[in-house]
Amino acid sequence: MCGIVGCILKDKKAAPILLDCVRRLEYRGYDSVGIATSSSSINIKKDSGKIDEVHEKLQLDELPGKVGIAHVRWATHGLPTRENAHPHTDCDNKIVLVHNGIIENYQELKDQLQEEGHHFRSDTDTEVIAHLVEKQMDGGNDFEEAVRGATQKIKGSYALAIIHADYPDTIIGVRKESPLILGVGDDDYFLASDVPAILEETNRVIYLDDDDIFIIRSDGIIIKDVNGHIKEKNIDVINWGPEMAQKGGYDHFMIKEIHEQPEAVRNTLSELDEIEKTVKNFSKINRLCFVACGTSYHAAMVGKYLFEELVGLPVDLALASEFEFSAGALRPDTLVIFITQSGETADTMKAMELAKGKSETLAIVNVMGSRATREADHVIYTRAGPEIGVAATKTYVSQLTCIYLLAACMARDNAILDELGKVPDYMTTVLEQEDFIKEISPQYRDAQDFFFIGRGFSYPTAMEGALKLKEITYIHGEGYAAGELKHGPLALISEGVPVVAVVPPGKSHDRTMGNVKEVKARGARVIGLGSQMDTNLRSESHDMMGLDDAISELISPLVYVVPLQLLAYYISVERGINPDQPKNLAKCVTVV
Ligand code: M6R
Repeated sequence: MCGIVGCILKDKKAAPILLDCVRRLEYRGYDSVGIATSSSSINIKKDSGKIDEVHEKLQLDELPGKVGIAHVRWATHGLPTRENAHPHTDCDNKIVLVHNGIIENYQELKDQLQEEGHHFRSDTDTEVIAHLVEKQMDGGNDFEEAVRGATQKIKGSYALAIIHADYPDTIIGVRKESPLILGVGDDDYFLASDVPAILEETNRVIYLDDDDIFIIRSDGIIIKDVNGHIKEKNIDVINWGPEMAQKGGYDHFMIKEIHEQPEAVRNTLSELDEIEKTVKNFSKINRLCFVACGTSYHAAMVGKYLFEELVGLPVDLALASEFEFSAGALRPDTLVIFITQSGETADTMKAMELAKGKSETLAIVNVMGSRATREADHVIYTRAGPEIGVAATKTYVSQLTCIYLLAACMARDNAILDELGKVPDYMTTVLEQEDFIKEISPQYRDAQDFFFIGRGFSYPTAMEGALKLKEITYIHGEGYAAGELKHGPLALISEGVPVVAVVPPGKSHDRTMGNVKEVKARGARVIGLGSQMDTNLRSESHDMMGLDDAISELISPLVYVVPLQLLAYYISVERGINPDQPKNLAKCVTVV
């Protein structure tokens, strides 16, 4: 997804710093890059391609000036070409901007501007904003008034940063439904769509609200509301060190983040007191509804099983992108729980808008200051630290930890808390088997299809294993409730097809073993995931990943996902793919 940064520096050139900052946004997924700086004139370098390729061709850091903006683009409107890469400009190349988001009414605005004689150079929705600002300034407005006027004409989501040739000491920007924060250094000022982009420069940030307009000059930052009134904003200190957004000796962020999971769970467990306080608000709640996308949806699936079993409340489950088609039954005694690591996923935020006012809303979020944390009635934070790999790993187990803590508090069940306390150690023993998983991964490198099966608490784990595999290996993977196999998918099982069976000891064990035998009889290559003491599963498996026998079925989603993450990771590496930046995907999906 697109990422934007900008800075006004006291003593240093902006371009090299901007280049470093956009490199730290690479993980979001992108296809083009561009930088513009302001000195005695406006200077722009941009092209399609990866940052290193474009930098080698254009020397992106060799632009003069201490003021600048930069962008990594993830194409939505128009192909990934030089013309469509940001920054975009007005007719006279004086107004220069970068944008993250979507302008929904861009076509009608563009038609009108073209009729009025504006000359467009790209197919993007973004370029209309530069021409709208130009039109406002032609009408006599100053830079700030023109930006405010232009944003009143556009519909959609935007994080914008704009410079102007006649205002060489100024960056003006706006945020609406798209992530954007400001950074405050000693004498330097920054903006970015994500904290890790500027963490090396400063850990002091200002979170913006929707419709805030900011004016950065070399002497400070002013933030105004939609009516032009100055707003006082707090500066928050981020307690993530810059090293948390670096690979720290690992080959990829993903494997580093897989290894950080015991600590992520430990840190999230320390949220118990906060969660207990939050739960006091829910005494009148009679029904729950979980809403999320992707991996976060799999955490929600676990939540459904858990709350129904432990708390005894009826629980609905909705994919955020489907919520608008099924949100009719919301009632005041329902708590809608939104799970989102980024707190900015557009589908999830749209669903939250629909639920607000009808039901209580709770967001389980990893990124402080994100949109979900400002819009939900209640917030619980996961303490995973920054997750850079596109594939969610440590944020998933942290979400699960929050859900288990929430269920334990609502059910007043302390036994589960004791079990949760052991999870980090269980995870560590799984991580000690990394070499074994690495060794078996080459034999699955050329698989065409993979199936993951499990029942009850293991069904979401099967779904998550399949999602991780397809996301970073590009191998077709399907997760199924094991009992569903005989209703159709069994037709797809043939000689050598890998089937990962998630079979912890417990209620679902014997039934799933029946399914393991069914697929094996049809030639499947079985990868068993169960207790290391499970001799039955071991004898049916071609490869067996054995876990601590003491891990109960109830708690198993937190631990059993780890070998599946490792398997996907090592198959991805075997296939020569960069698991941190899978094709076509973005870390934070800010479009619906
Ligand atoms: O930030 P969110 O948790 O709302 O993101 C939801 C999904 O986009 C996300 O989990 C996605 O499925 C991951 N890339 C999966 O690894």
